[in-house]
Amino acid sequence: MTNSSAAGVRQIALDHPFDDQKPGTSGLRKSSRQFETPHYLESFIEAVFQVLPGVVGGTLVVGGDGRYGNAGAIGVIARMAAAHGVAKLITTTGGILSTPAASHLIRQHQAIGGIILSASHNPGGPDGDFGVKVNGANGGPAPESITDAIYGATKTLSGYRILEGEAEAHGLNLASPGSCNLGTLQLEVIDGVDDYVALMQRLFDFDQIAGLLKGNFPVAFDAMHAVTGPYAARIFEGLLGAPAGTVRNGKPLEDFGGGHPDPNLTYAHDLADLLLKGDNYRFGAACDGDGDRNMILGHNCFVNPSDSLAVLTANAKLAPGYAAGLAGVARSMPTSAAADVVAKELGLPCFETPTGWKFFGNLLDAGQITLCGEESFGTGSDHIREKDGLWAVLFWLQILAQKQCSVADVMANHWGSFGRHYYSRHDYEAIASDAAHGLYDRIKAMQPALLGQNFAGRSISTADDFSYTDPVDGAVSTGQGLRLLLNDGSRVVLRLSGTGTQGATLRVYLESYVPATGNLHQDPQLALGDLITAIDQLAEIKTRTGMEHPTVIT
Ligand code: G1P
Ligand code: ZN
Repeated sequence: MTNSSAAGVRQIALDHPFDDQKPGTSGLRKSSRQFETPHYLESFIEAVFQVLPGVVGGTLVVGGDGRYGNAGAIGVIARMAAAHGVAKLITTTGGILSTPAASHLIRQHQAIGGIILSASHNPGGPDGDFGVKVNGANGGPAPESITDAIYGATKTLSGYRILEGEAEAHGLNLASPGSCNLGTLQLEVIDGVDDYVALMQRLFDFDQIAGLLKGNFPVAFDAMHAVTGPYAARIFEGLLGAPAGTVRNGKPLEDFGGGHPDPNLTYAHDLADLLLKGDNYRFGAACDGDGDRNMILGHNCFVNPSDSLAVLTANAKLAPGYAAGLAGVARSMPTSAAADVVAKELGLPCFETPTGWKFFGNLLDAGQITLCGEESFGTGSDHIREKDGLWAVLFWLQILAQKQCSVADVMANHWGSFGRHYYSRHDYEAIASDAAHGLYDRIKAMQPALLGQNFAGRSISTADDFSYTDPVDGAVSTGQGLRLLLNDGSRVVLRLSGTGTQGATLRVYLESYVPATGNLHQDPQLALGDLITAIDQLAEIKTRTGMEHPTVIT
């Protein structure tokens, strides 16, 4: 590693500020090409350093999911951190750091926050996407007050400060752990897996899970050539003694092997085929690009993420880290109410928040909830302030090790106790922005007149645009999704994605509840068929999007 004694801080002038650096649900996410525009990354990072509290003399954590641009961005951020008076920058070997592991490191080192380089589940590579997520001192995504201030700063920037000198000429050496100085900045490179694995060992009984895996319980884990490969190899094939090959696609690649690192039935279809069509595996799981999402599969059984949160809530005490019970549980609005039913039964507080992990942060910090989750394959707890893919996988294995039954049995028993929330999300991706907003605004305008109207043989009892008042700080978030609640407890929700990078994505969320005495084993698409037809007619989805079918059905 180079010691840049010849280094000096330079002020680089910008001709004009970039006007497109508004962070969305998960930070600033754009094409890799856009990020390669001269000064583009630097401009956003300058705004971050101007806004984030405690920069001078503080500690910052930086790493990413290994996609194209990861290492180069770490170099830029290190040099800019040095120019802004950050005292210590912690990064990882190869720059590889999952989002949950970053959240843990921020908390463990009492850092002022972190910068995570990822576009999550979006494809990577020169023709893919790149992203910058900013986390705060609690380890979670920066609140809207900070991201709005960062955006404000990007719009008036006249330049940025960066250290130039030897380090710039030679690049940073992230090959192995070590420490060096960049100007007044101490740059520490650590192993990005160690601390995260130690945290998992405190939460779960690894001996019991190892016992399960040593029996007749073959597992397939798909890292999708993204960040969880090294973590999963250490945990499953190392500590838990699963056979080599348990972890598939375990080498992080800059373009994720050309794949789309999103763990759902469409993009993780190889794994889905192994579990849903083949007979060789009893448990399957996958995580996304940056390791915060999870998909859980059993033999012939897909676990809907909303149901997964409910199952973890109902069985939390089986994991040592949660043996004392839960303070409460939260789910995002579009997530099904499966967890609500469990919470009610257990006498736990239950919260409904807008989409995006940052809304859980306040509740976790205030000790009002222990578990939280979203329908979009995100599940987590108060151990960090991000959703955590491998944590959810270990939690499921803990439950299975204790119950000694199949995933399908766990689900059947759960529905037999609590009833089933048939649930599906239909995504219409990359539609023309005008068409998407036209469709959405039309339904929004129609909402007052929809009250009491017939919808799929039911009556519409509430038609609104979801808004949320944070119970901890009173902050109000409006415009969070159009809800049509029906008199029998079923509902349809429409939202426009805040994370897509091409055109607009319309999400249609469908849900209908069947009590424990009802028909619990239908195909969700059939069980929801009348709602699907009714929303298509009302919102004119096919005609307005020009799409016969959704891009992704979950
Ligand atoms: C999507 C998911 C949402 C999640 C976010 C970040 O956002 O739907 O639940 O929090 O990614 O992982 P969306 O594209 O719907 O705005
Ligand atoms: Zn992610």
